[in-house]
Amino acid sequence: MTVRGWNDLVDGLAYGGDYNPEQWPREVWDDDVRLMREAGVNLVSLAIFSWATIEPLEGQFDWAWLDEVIEKLDAGGVRIALATATASPPPWLTATHPEILPVTREGVVLHQGGRQAYRISSPVYREYATAMTRRMAERYGSHPALALWHVDNEIGCHIPDDFSPDATEAFRGWLQRRYGTLEALNEAWGTAFWSQRYGSFEHVLPPLPAPTFPNPTQQLDWRRYTSDVHKEYYLALRAVLREVTPEVPITTNFMIGTGNRHADYADWAPETDVVANDHYTRSHDPERHVELAFAADLTRGVAAGDPWLLMEHSTSAVNWQPRNRAKDPGEMVRNSLSHVARGADGVMFFQWRQSRAGAEKFHSGMVPHAGTDSAVWRNTVELGEHLQRLAPVRGSRVASSVAVVFDYTNLWAVELDSHPTNDLSYPDLVLDWHRAFFHEGVQVDVVPPQADLSGYDLVVAPNLYLADDERVANLTGVVERGGVFATTWFSGIVDAHDHIHLGGHPGAFADLLGIRTEEFCPLQQGERVGVLLDGVDAEGVRWTERTELRGASAHATYTDGVLVGLPAVTDHAVGDGHAWYVGTDLPGEGKRALVRTWLAQAGIEPVLADPQPGVEAVRRSGEGGSFLFVFNHTRGEVRVPATGTELLTGARVSGALTLPGGGSAVVHEDA
Ligand code: GLA
Ligand code: GLA
Repeated sequence: MTVRGWNDLVDGLAYGGDYNPEQWPREVWDDDVRLMREAGVNLVSLAIFSWATIEPLEGQFDWAWLDEVIEKLDAGGVRIALATATASPPPWLTATHPEILPVTREGVVLHQGGRQAYRISSPVYREYATAMTRRMAERYGSHPALALWHVDNEIGCHIPDDFSPDATEAFRGWLQRRYGTLEALNEAWGTAFWSQRYGSFEHVLPPLPAPTFPNPTQQLDWRRYTSDVHKEYYLALRAVLREVTPEVPITTNFMIGTGNRHADYADWAPETDVVANDHYTRSHDPERHVELAFAADLTRGVAAGDPWLLMEHSTSAVNWQPRNRAKDPGEMVRNSLSHVARGADGVMFFQWRQSRAGAEKFHSGMVPHAGTDSAVWRNTVELGEHLQRLAPVRGSRVASSVAVVFDYTNLWAVELDSHPTNDLSYPDLVLDWHRAFFHEGVQVDVVPPQADLSGYDLVVAPNLYLADDERVANLTGVVERGGVFATTWFSGIVDAHDHIHLGGHPGAFADLLGIRTEEFCPLQQGERVGVLLDGVDAEGVRWTERTELRGASAHATYTDGVLVGLPAVTDHAVGDGHAWYVGTDLPGEGKRALVRTWLAQAGIEPVLADPQPGVEAVRRSGEGGSFLFVFNHTRGEVRVPATGTELLTGARVSGALTLPGGGSAVVHEDA
């Protein structure tokens, strides 16, 4: 039996949110469905945190309320992404089985009282969770309103790391499967160092607090194990759903963005029937729409270019940042449609009705505390109308000529301790390059290093410290095909075991780049060094290195400091291709100048000619035609070139589109 499409049961784009009716008296439920219809909601995520309501004591079930809610939703035409109800164990379970509780690195047991108080590797919890999943599947698996399974919730969100005895056991098993023999593990971990050689797998531990830096390969393998054990939990629940309901699509909500570090979502994605993501903007970030764009482009990259589902974001403020700002007028719509522009075929929120009690009562919802006479509700209705008008966009794709590489394994490796500098956050460094393209008005894909790169004319792989043969071969292929490839400082340094590529840096990329570095010269915080780039005075921060040309030419040189006159940026012509190296971190304008050079070399144009500051433009296209999304992140009116039908208003656009401050538009372009 084949699996249905995840959105076969919804018309057009999906729209809705997490629905937690158990937090409200019955009287509210009819009102909920009525308002969902008013807003055009066609999909809700249900029963995510319902276990304790369904089964308040072991073996005592109350399904009636959930049956009733499902009937009401169905009658209202709302389809359901039904959860497995396993995201948080009920109090009876943690009380009777405290051995399922997670443990921190410092050995602190995390108790019931918040949520998600389970250890991912616990065989006991696995048994209870799969049994609960089976009950949900057996009870509701053939319900006509069931569109999609939602496994657990943000797996690993609060407990990216568990150091319980179960975890130690599971980690040892994982290592035995990875290495086969102790010799292989000792070799990979470099245990000749500091008397770390293991004589038995039983002596191997997770990276617990240690007197000084724990073994780096142990740490890296722990991250790999952690990603795998979370995926394994997902797969265990998925297997039950697949068995009971073979035709119902299955997903779980990822947390792709700059914040998440515990899971390799590129590795998980093929195990879902649709990639679903949760994204929240960063209150403190004046360019939060750029971080959103990066996260959405990475989600599409993880989904190998297929349309995906935005499972959660917020209508306005969240409750968990230090200062939770409300969204500006127009911002929620821009955020939602920017996800759609970047490949989402559905927009959902946490949550439908803002909670009255509990830790998330100050988190916005689609129905706010203020009720329906409110800007948030009017925005909710407005977005629903927009999404209905955008139905023709469904299934179309984003085509980019530029790829920026984001690599989860590298994230774990490059951020390890005892490195030349601690002054780096890999997601933020990659985001900075994405930002440079964003400001040049160029559409990019953010892809894993193993992605098919054959369609790209320009590929940028920032800070790719971990460079094994497979990564190097795939990236070298870009240059061999006559494309432009660029990498940056602290790249090509180690193999998959975090062992140095000998013979000078950037190790695995040195020949391709036509350079050789003997020593790194990281900068102190606040230290800056002058760089002459394309005849313009730029600056380097964070990092410099003493680079010697071995075939490459210097594109930029240091103008002061100890490296004065030495190359800061190099270009190596290889056949028709180019391999670039950026040996320092170039803030702002320096990055943009370099990006312009690469774009010109690769012959890539922006989405709209003459991009304007604060104006975002993205194109999706498919059988239904070509759709130009434009967002005005400024407060003033802007005019951009476009011709076609503006879908949100139905207006004709001939030559130029005028957008008010904060506005959004989607032009179905004339063929
Ligand atoms: C996550 C969770 C939701 C909710 C939101 C709040 O995305 O999945 O249950 O807690 O955060 O932003
Ligand atoms: C100390 C230790 C050495 C080495 C150096 C590194 O001197 O004795 O083993 O770790 O620090 O600076």
